[in-house]
Amino acid sequence: MREVYFITSNPGKYREVKRIGEEKGIEIHWIEMEYYEPQGESLEYIAEKSAEIIKERLKKPFIIEDSGLFIEKLKGFPGVYSSYVFKTLGNEGILKLMKGVENRNAVFRSVVAYCDKDRIRLFSGEVRGVIAHEQRGRGGFGYDPIFEVNGRTLAEMGKDKDRVSHRRKAMEKFLKWYMNRSESG
Ligand code: IMP
Repeated sequence: MREVYFITSNPGKYREVKRIGEEKGIEIHWIEMEYYEPQGESLEYIAEKSAEIIKERLKKPFIIEDSGLFIEKLKGFPGVYSSYVFKTLGNEGILKLMKGVENRNAVFRSVVAYCDKDRIRLFSGEVRGVIAHEQRGRGGFGYDPIFEVNGRTLAEMGKDKDRVSHRRKAMEKFLKWYMNRSESG
């Protein structure tokens, strides 16, 4: 089967995942659904528990994706709280926390969870970068304007973001597994 159902309420994530699927000849269908995200210490835990909850409501195979921004100097903050922190502090709040901080290293991580009636499987990817000194770029979503890889923020990259992104790496691992599995029946 050359199609996958992706559950997210975030259109930016959907656009990226759809593009990545297209490159591999897999059609990604969007199910726009808000779901309860349990709290937890790792993206893996949150993705797996979320998938278990959705599985009760949706009787077909699907994927979800959970991401987080981990800033070295802030001991991994906002990490698993990235969504809440984005809504409350936003990019300007993160830039304030990082004012005067020299070590600007950060990692964006993504975990894709595939779920069908027999199993849940997790695939992860990450991209290393630095927190910019100011917001730059008009593309993307979320923390893209402040996360810089090789001199450009993700928001300045347009579709080039797909070449380097955490989501790209996690999705590639998933699609490779999924295509092998489909081919072997
Ligand atoms: P979640 O995976 O939807 O929980 O995302 C956590 C937070 O990180 C949200 O505020 C997202 O907007 C943000 N986020 C997730 N992926 C990305 C990305 O690729 N670039 C920038 N921000 C992101």
